[in-house]
Amino acid sequence: MEQKKKKISLYKKIRRDFYVRVEESEKKHRNKIIALALVTLLLASTLLFCATLLEKSTKGQYVYYYGDVEQKIKAENENHVIDFIALADFCGMSKNISINNASFEINNTRVSFTDGSDIAKINGINIKMPTPAAIKNGYCLIPLSILERISHGLNIITDKNETTIQIEGNIFMIAKDFEVKYETDISKYLEYIHSKDEYIYTLVNKQNPVDKTFPEDQDALIEIPAEYRKTDVIYLHYIAEKALEAMMNDMFALGYNDTYVTSAYRRYDKQQQIFDKYVNDLVNQGMSYDEAYATVLSDTALPGQSEHQTGLCVDLTTKSIVTVDNRFADTEVFAWLQDNAWKYGFVLRYPEDKVNITGYSYESWHYRFVGFDIAKIMHQTGLCYEEYLENFWDK
Ligand code: DAL
Ligand code: ZN
Repeated sequence: MEQKKKKISLYKKIRRDFYVRVEESEKKHRNKIIALALVTLLLASTLLFCATLLEKSTKGQYVYYYGDVEQKIKAENENHVIDFIALADFCGMSKNISINNASFEINNTRVSFTDGSDIAKINGINIKMPTPAAIKNGYCLIPLSILERISHGLNIITDKNETTIQIEGNIFMIAKDFEVKYETDISKYLEYIHSKDEYIYTLVNKQNPVDKTFPEDQDALIEIPAEYRKTDVIYLHYIAEKALEAMMNDMFALGYNDTYVTSAYRRYDKQQQIFDKYVNDLVNQGMSYDEAYATVLSDTALPGQSEHQTGLCVDLTTKSIVTVDNRFADTEVFAWLQDNAWKYGFVLRYPEDKVNITGYSYESWHYRFVGFDIAKIMHQTGLCYEEYLENFWDK
């Protein structure tokens, strides 16, 4: 009996030990699984983190080419930046780079950037950039849009779908100074062409109207001499009128003597008459009033919103065209004006590629006097007057 009891107790012990061992082994197994799960989780999150980083670093990145040379370019919210040092090497500019400043020179023209500053200095003129320059690690990063504005002779093609930017052309000149040469003796006109009278900067457009009494100084409006117009008496502000004489004398000297002024200063009610007449003409042709009104508004100003009310602009035409229309853009005199009007302080006021900014259709015939200094900068940079005022005024 005693023997039997002993056997049972031994059996129980063995069974207990067995269960303890099984329990321990299960515990170890569980721990292993937990550890494995933790390692897998860690690995997965590391992978996810890397993928996000990778995506971030390649997202919005452009490949750009100088000729055949490929480089990466950062692009954030359409504000592409370009490394000006790489560009300078590509174009053969001389460069001078310090910790905070980078300046470049080519063909006697200069541009400099300061780290963290959104002002670029071009031949001593300050230009505001949409984002600041960043000078570090051998790079000078500036917004691509600035390069487009100050470069002459470079062709920059941006392909948003392919995210590539191709830069072509070997000549690179920054706000280059152009030769100022006149055909006739303009000495008596120079003081007007170079006038700094505040009035000549007057901006009139859809956002900046003038009232019925404008301009206050009606005596400043003088008659354009008969040789520069056809029949009707036309008035212009005396400063613009003198500059116009200089320009037209040179035009005549070059043989463009069938060109004449067809409109200049217009009073408020005259502008009203013109606007109403154009609308009525379209209505008479069968257009609805609303449609006619909207059509006329795209190329004719409402009274108060016309630059003609300043007496600072002229509409030009030729004896073979007579009306004002874009056939003028096909004439030789237009090509000459494109290159030379700025020398007399005049600018093409409504260029073909600035309709969204000026608010008016392309008008190859409409020239505005803004004075030599502004006309020169507008000619050099290709900016329209609104853009000029936004970027240069008060600097
Ligand atoms: N055609 C120009 C915009 C005007 O009417 O003043
Ligand atoms: Zn006009």
